[in-house]
Amino acid sequence: MPMERRDFVKEVLGLGLLALVKGRAGRAKELPSAPGSAAAPAAGADQIALPAFAKDSAFPLDQALRERKTSRDFDPDAVLTPEQLSRLLWAANGVNRPDGHRTTPSAMARYPVEVYVALPEGVYRYEVKEHKLARVSGKDIRDQIPLQPGLKKAAMKLLYVIDRKKAGGDEPWMADLEIGCMVQDVYLEAASLDLGCCVFAIVRREHVSQELGLDKNKIFRIAQAVGPLRPE
Ligand SMILES: Cc1cc2nc3c(=O)[nH]c(=O)nc-3n(C[C@H](O)[C@H](O)[C@H](O)COP(=O)(O)O)c2cc1C
Repeated sequence: MPMERRDFVKEVLGLGLLALVKGRAGRAKELPSAPGSAAAPAAGADQIALPAFAKDSAFPLDQALRERKTSRDFDPDAVLTPEQLSRLLWAANGVNRPDGHRTTPSAMARYPVEVYVALPEGVYRYEVKEHKLARVSGKDIRDQIPLQPGLKKAAMKLLYVIDRKKAGGDEPWMADLEIGCMVQDVYLEAASLDLGCCVFAIVRREHVSQELGLDKNKIFRIAQAVGPLRPE
């Protein structure tokens, strides 16, 4: 597929800052859990291996910060490419070091937040260590998650779920802070991919929890829509 001019410019501009902002890119290539480098299972009905993505296509961090914003006018017919999906999930909660620590911080490295993703083909849980998706439902529930009409049609919805057992304590407020970090990472990655993004707290909590088969220890907290916007 030919590279869009904007993407080309982004790549060229990004190279210089890559060394400064992501000087660890070369090292990350060697991580067993780096995207695409793990022995991922073949794509199938129940599991989807997320593809590797180029480590030299970084977008300048300051540009992503300038362009970060909430958008709600999603293109109802658009889908994400596997690479976009791979990048967004890794940004949210991926392993970025050999010791298993991740792109987002976690209190005492307990990692109590699970990320699910609702796609046209179903709902999947992001398996962090293997950088793959494991299916939990074959239904397209994307339009059943938000109450706001404008958010119903985004290409994907991320669903942030707290595992109360891992969080420790009845009020897992630290896990909420961790979700905030994940949400911002995804906003920045979406900006770098020229995709629309909206975190939304007004969700059909019970309905979605049932669709995901969550037990009482899991709390579906908040969702985030990401996808191409309607052409202007
Ligand atoms: C915790 C949280 C919950 C939010 N919930 C919603 C929501 O339910 N619906 C919505 O349209 N936007 C929601 N937003 C997005 C805000 O409306 C948006 O960030 C705000 O208007 C500022 O715009 P900006 O993100 O473009 O800077 C939420 C943002 C946060 C941080």
